[in-house]
Amino acid sequence: MFTSSPALDHRDSIDEMHDYVWDVPRKHGYEVTRNADKIMGRHLTKAKIGSMVTLVEDKVLEDVARLRQSVGPSGSRVPFGHRTWSLLWNSSLGALFGGGLDPTWVRGPAREMMHNANVCYFIDLLPFLPRAFWFAVLPKARAFRRGRRDLHSRLAKWLDNDDAVSQADDMLQEIGKMFNSRRDECNLEAASAWVAMFVTGLAVNTGEVTGWLFPYLLRSPALLKAIRAECDALPAGRLDQVDLKASAPLLSSAIQETLRIRGSIFSGRTVKKPFQLPGYDHQFKRGDLLRIMSPGAALDTDCWGDDAAVWRGDRFYQGGDQMYNSQLAFGGGVTTCPGRWLATAELLIVTAHLIRNFDFGTDISLHEKLPDEGDDTEFGAPCKAGTGEVVKLTDLDGKSYDIVMPNMENSGCEIPSGLLPPLEETVIFMKPRDIDV
Ligand code: HEM
Repeated sequence: MFTSSPALDHRDSIDEMHDYVWDVPRKHGYEVTRNADKIMGRHLTKAKIGSMVTLVEDKVLEDVARLRQSVGPSGSRVPFGHRTWSLLWNSSLGALFGGGLDPTWVRGPAREMMHNANVCYFIDLLPFLPRAFWFAVLPKARAFRRGRRDLHSRLAKWLDNDDAVSQADDMLQEIGKMFNSRRDECNLEAASAWVAMFVTGLAVNTGEVTGWLFPYLLRSPALLKAIRAECDALPAGRLDQVDLKASAPLLSSAIQETLRIRGSIFSGRTVKKPFQLPGYDHQFKRGDLLRIMSPGAALDTDCWGDDAAVWRGDRFYQGGDQMYNSQLAFGGGVTTCPGRWLATAELLIVTAHLIRNFDFGTDISLHEKLPDEGDDTEFGAPCKAGTGEVVKLTDLDGKSYDIVMPNMENSGCEIPSGLLPPLEETVIFMKPRDIDV
């Protein structure tokens, strides 16, 4: 119903969000940015992403080799969320943009923007004064806009340099050239806003998954053992030609479970004519905005069972395709995330390589800032000491544990992204394994 009803407008609220959050124009240049959407959709189909996955894996292999070196042969404790987030960010952007854009150059602004992005929803709840006023006075709103402005201007430099654009993969080259040939209809600012929207979609959400997944997985000893066995049985070397959902079904399930429970689904629909949800009395009127509320969707016991609030890594493995089809982490219908196939392939590849390459300690520390962390870890702010969030998990052998996880940033409020970031860093001991990978 939500994904296909003719009584609902499937585009309107996403266009509004493009305009308000990303600054992608709704009026001037709209037709050109829609054309960029179409080019993106054409390149990101399941059948077509193969060459992108290969490019991403090249970068992942380089980064994993670097990580092995940096932790040293006897291992060390690393700021895990940040390290793996950066690994995914660099691999995804490095692969798609090629040598024409240094991924680290746009990472700080993008993170600053997204870590403050929930302010957009908050501002809309404030009465009387226009949005512009709140954006000028609220520190969080100013940080959000600063990140967005910096991101746009850095991407505008990329877009304005034909040589840089020509080093990108086929999809981004086509998009960059299209924008550059239609500047009279869509100026550089608007085009770079669209590219910024793509960049954050591309790399922000995917990167957060590992920071959530591993703290669960490392506290599920039976599941970890089974997943390690799956990963060790994969062919040595590259994995881009392997059907990882079939060959590592428990790993695939654990990733989906993490997406389910940590997702932030912002999908919206505008009501076009009076409309009722089956089984509910309330009639929505024209102009109402309907949203999938992600905690509600992820914790719905009718759909997921009585243990909906529990992280159970083998849930999707047990539930099979029917359960995969109930997953809303990527939205649904015509506005479903265009990058879902690429994100899923990347996550399987990265996690499988990490698990094959490293042993992990189970003593996980939160709220700690290590001396060697880069400046862009949480923007240099000290990790907040706190109690963490106590949650339940059920392991593969049926044993249940209460574990402490990082708090969820923006908890209680969705963000215009797909995944809620952890608020605190997770420090994990990693040691390279002595195996033929
Ligand atoms: C785990 C990773 C990801 C998650 C959880 C995620 C989630 C989402 C969600 C929930 C939406 C909105 C869907 C809707 O409104 O129904 C979305 C939109 C979008 N995603 Fe993703 N996504 C991920 C990865 C990616 C990747 C890898 C790319 C690019 C290759 C991407 C590009 C986009 C773009 C460009 C949009 C906006 C589409 C539009 O506004 O028209 N995403 N994503």
